[in-house]
Amino acid sequence: MTERTFSIIKPDATKRNLTGKVNAVIEDAGLRIVAQRRIQMTEAQAKAFYEVHKERPFYGELVATMTSAPVVVQVLEGDNAVARYREVMGATNPEQAADGTIRKLFALNVGENSVHGSDSQDNAKIEIAQFFTEDQIVG
Ligand code: CMP
Repeated sequence: MTERTFSIIKPDATKRNLTGKVNAVIEDAGLRIVAQRRIQMTEAQAKAFYEVHKERPFYGELVATMTSAPVVVQVLEGDNAVARYREVMGATNPEQAADGTIRKLFALNVGENSVHGSDSQDNAKIEIAQFFTEDQIVG
């Protein structure tokens, strides 16, 4: 079924000029980039986005990392986009990521792991709505 997921190309990747290379992996996997914007995430945006992790020991570091340089926020569309993108990203920790995945190819460590992708369709809708209005998504 065609669905949408939310993606972030994180600061470690934008700083190394890897936006195009990450997008090539996404597109080669059959996902379409139907909305995309480069932004400097504010502390308030990062805190709200990662609210579910606020009790975790790495929350402060996560917010600092995500606001340390620009990110590219994206909406991806395709067959089973949520699961497909999670496959394409690879494991959260790049040491455990499979060959050919974005994190295996580009990530530096678990905190600087190059990309974020939604973990469910419900969360995809919530995350997309934090950064895009429906008229900005052109499928
Ligand atoms: P992401 O998919 O963006 O969702 C939460 C993020 O927290 C995750 O990717 C990692 O980048 C980060 N994260 C998870 N575990 C750790 C950890 N042990 N130390 C630092 N960051 C982490």
